[in-house]
Amino acid sequence: MIKKGVKIAPARGKLGVLIPGLGAVATTFIAGVEAVRKGLARPIGSLTQMGTIRLGKRTDNRVPAIRDFVPLANLDDLVFGGWDIFPENGYEIACKAGVLERSLLDLIKDELEQLRPMKAVFSRRYVKKLNGPNVKRGKNKWELAQQVKEDIRRFQKETGVDRTVMVWCGSTEVFMKPGGVHSSLAKFERGLKANDPRIPSSMVYAYAALSLGIPFANGAPNLTIDVEAMRQLARKNDVPVCGKDFKTGQTLMKTILAPGFKARMIGMHGWFSTNILGNRDGEVLDDPESFKTKEESKLGVLEHILQPEVYPELYGRIHYKVRIVYYPPRGDNKEGWDNIDIFGWLGYPMQIKVDFLCRDSILAAPIVLDLILFLDLAKRAGMRGIQEWLSFYFKSPMCAPQLYPEHDLFIQLMKLKNTLRYLRGEEMITHLGLEYYD
Ligand SMILES: NC(=O)c1ccc[n+]([C@@H]2O[C@H](COP(=O)([O-])OP(=O)(O)OC[C@H]3O[C@@H](n4cnc5c(N)ncnc54)[C@H](O)[C@@H]3O)[C@@H](O)[C@H]2O)c1
Repeated sequence: MIKKGVKIAPARGKLGVLIPGLGAVATTFIAGVEAVRKGLARPIGSLTQMGTIRLGKRTDNRVPAIRDFVPLANLDDLVFGGWDIFPENGYEIACKAGVLERSLLDLIKDELEQLRPMKAVFSRRYVKKLNGPNVKRGKNKWELAQQVKEDIRRFQKETGVDRTVMVWCGSTEVFMKPGGVHSSLAKFERGLKANDPRIPSSMVYAYAALSLGIPFANGAPNLTIDVEAMRQLARKNDVPVCGKDFKTGQTLMKTILAPGFKARMIGMHGWFSTNILGNRDGEVLDDPESFKTKEESKLGVLEHILQPEVYPELYGRIHYKVRIVYYPPRGDNKEGWDNIDIFGWLGYPMQIKVDFLCRDSILAAPIVLDLILFLDLAKRAGMRGIQEWLSFYFKSPMCAPQLYPEHDLFIQLMKLKNTLRYLRGEEMITHLGLEYYD
């Protein structure tokens, strides 16, 4: 059989990375890339930098690094910019976030100081706990979107980047369901001009990016690009998009553990999850409306993995609770505590306790990097619309409206790697393996 891959334009020149929301995650990511470039640290947790991919039969011994297998942008070619409601530069933000040690930040101080947030599109209507001075003014949301487009064009011109990707690392906005104004591109554009309250700030950035053909990833649980209007715009302009809500910490653990219980047909009575965290993200989530957005994102995971409708005896009556408590002394070093009530043979109960002392932004930073590199790859490969193969990175993966999302981390990884194989014209790996025993 002749192998045929997909034509992928080379990753020539520089790649612009634009981030609305220059907080703990964004600066931990940017500082990390600067540190890795200087040989000061390693990009642990990043599939694009550390991962390999098996090709062909197990006896072939072909296991290249992912970054040698598909043409990804080089870390040296990334150029950063972004928006925030606070005017501090990247070094000041990173110091305040308190994720990385000052001794490391001081070695990359010059680079971080160059990161100066552009004025944000922001309204307290959507993030109640924050208030900052570095905010755009405009007659309506349409005009604000034009201002963001201007910012993007200026950034592209000044830095000389060849391609650009945008990743939302801004705060979690209040809970919102898709409505009429989101149901078509035409209605959405009318809504921008009419200042429709159902268009939050994140959608203004996303609209500006997609209008300019810039791929967009949503790191927060906000609706943002997960509406029909944005899907239409992404298709129209051939833009790949993905979201929502970076899969780190507790949800990462859930999507590792739950598929294992289901695989062994172990039943579950309940799963109680609580978090204490003290960073600004925690403060924003202390508002019930922002928490609701996060809660919905976290709750969907178990339901989809365990499939209670298929296994009512095992998973039909789960008590499921999620709590997030803002507790300032912890800063970014959150504690995620899980109590899982399971049952086995003849219904005998057992308990599992997981106490994850995790570092939120340390887990999120490599996800931001991978998403940028993979979205840029997708764009050069002519892929557009929802990139379901990037579900691996999200708590609430976006998928086509007629589908349910895939949450199982291991299926997600297989899908991601098979997509890369498909792009390069390699055989899919099915794990059947009968041929070894013929
Ligand atoms: N850290 C994680 O593990 C993780 C996991 C999943 C999702 N997230 C999400 O990622 C986002 C960032 O997390 P973080 O820990 O960096 O939070 P953070 O509070 O440190 O940073 C968010 C930044 O966004 C800014 N912001 C808010 N609205 C804005 C707007 N309209 N325009 C521009 N800037 C705006 C805030 O001023 C703040 O500086 C949050 O939504 C969080 O829920 C984080």
